[in-house]
Amino acid sequence: MRLTPGAAADVDFGRLDLFDLDLYTTGDPHSVWDVMRMKAPLHRQVLPDGRTFWSVTRYDDVCRVLGDHREFTSERGTVVTHLGVDDVAAGKLLTSTDPPRHTQVRRAIGAMLTARAVAAWEDPIRRAVVRFLEPALDGDVFDLAERALLLPAMVTGPLLGIPERDWAELVELTAMVTAPSDPHFQHGNQAATLAIAHHELLSYVTEWVKRRRSHGGDQESLLDHLMSVRAGGAPLTDEEIALDGYSILLGANVTTPHTVSGTVHALIERPEQFAKAQADPTLVPNLVEEGLRWTSAACNFMRYAVRDTHIAGGTIPAGGAAVAWIGSANRDESQFPDPHTFDVTRTAAKRQVAFGYGPHFCIGAPLARLTLRVFFSELLQRFASIGLAGEPQHLRSYFIAGMTHLPVVAQNRKTP
Ligand code: HEM
Repeated sequence: MRLTPGAAADVDFGRLDLFDLDLYTTGDPHSVWDVMRMKAPLHRQVLPDGRTFWSVTRYDDVCRVLGDHREFTSERGTVVTHLGVDDVAAGKLLTSTDPPRHTQVRRAIGAMLTARAVAAWEDPIRRAVVRFLEPALDGDVFDLAERALLLPAMVTGPLLGIPERDWAELVELTAMVTAPSDPHFQHGNQAATLAIAHHELLSYVTEWVKRRRSHGGDQESLLDHLMSVRAGGAPLTDEEIALDGYSILLGANVTTPHTVSGTVHALIERPEQFAKAQADPTLVPNLVEEGLRWTSAACNFMRYAVRDTHIAGGTIPAGGAAVAWIGSANRDESQFPDPHTFDVTRTAAKRQVAFGYGPHFCIGAPLARLTLRVFFSELLQRFASIGLAGEPQHLRSYFIAGMTHLPVVAQNRKTP
């Protein structure tokens, strides 16, 4: 998705199609959301097949939809690609469960993903990042977006307990789930792509658990942890383990790479910001927050209204699908003055909601933040400059904002 908007858009709300995939590949969604925040903060769209959804685009409304399960439930599904199809994993998969069950399971799983717990992984993460950047050191063209798809597997694979030989396949499957209409990942049509990937990923985790139960293992990985936790006094069922393992794989694989490529692209387009961050390494944590805000890789999440709910000057009827556009909230001028400026010193950047808001706030945020901080500190230490070596290509998805290609050439800092 284009992250720097062009000229102000002239939006015909009667014809606006937020599911038009061209909007995210060749169009300019930010200029559309700017107008929505101003003139239509609650927008209703009916798809040709009759499915209907309501969009909220302002920061406060996005936080309210994501943050209050008594008004907006997660139990019928939260991903827009499944709009109108009730989630069969409701109440079993962490993301599709409301409190109080959600709180019990989340507390148990989250113990291994706190900032304190993940700090112990900094050294292996740094080694993985250094290995990741090595091919760029020789000054050849390096497709950062393509290669970045492998980064979470290099970082999280060992933490999850997944052997290296399986990474490439899992990365492909998770990309199919999140961008089932992108020609890079599509098999047949969107529905078939989703069904194949969903089935394969769930089978992978189920088989992994079965093997571990019969052969044992080092018992220290995140998947082992899922097998041993107790939530509400009982262990997770095999189905819950498979579903939550699947969800962690997905969460880890699909978002961090696009945050990396979108932020690097922003720095390429603004060499003065690159220089500023390089001159002062203490800016790296803020650069990461600004990069998260800027890219908003998970562009939206969905809920369903529990009852008729008044919001943003209108009403979402009971059972209506509410899509919270995170990408728009992170450019809301009421929170982020001059929102379309990428500024590594922006102090408000930490208010970004790229990880969501409320009970479902990203459980992997400490790991993602650590990975991104290590990544950008290593990148800035190694390269004097980075330039574009071809046109970026945007991911064909209205759910994940990202790139499929970002050819770059980096100049080694030590080279005279
Ligand atoms: C830059 C990287 C990331 C971004 C932008 C991101 C974004 C998000 C967002 C917006 C949500 C909220 C979903 C909702 O409200 O329904 C979420 C939840 C979640 N994320 Fe992430 N995520 C990232 C990295 C990760 C990583 C590294 C992992 C795994 C280790 C992960 C696993 C999850 C899981 C399991 C949930 C569900 C939490 C719950 O329902 O309580 N994510 N993520």
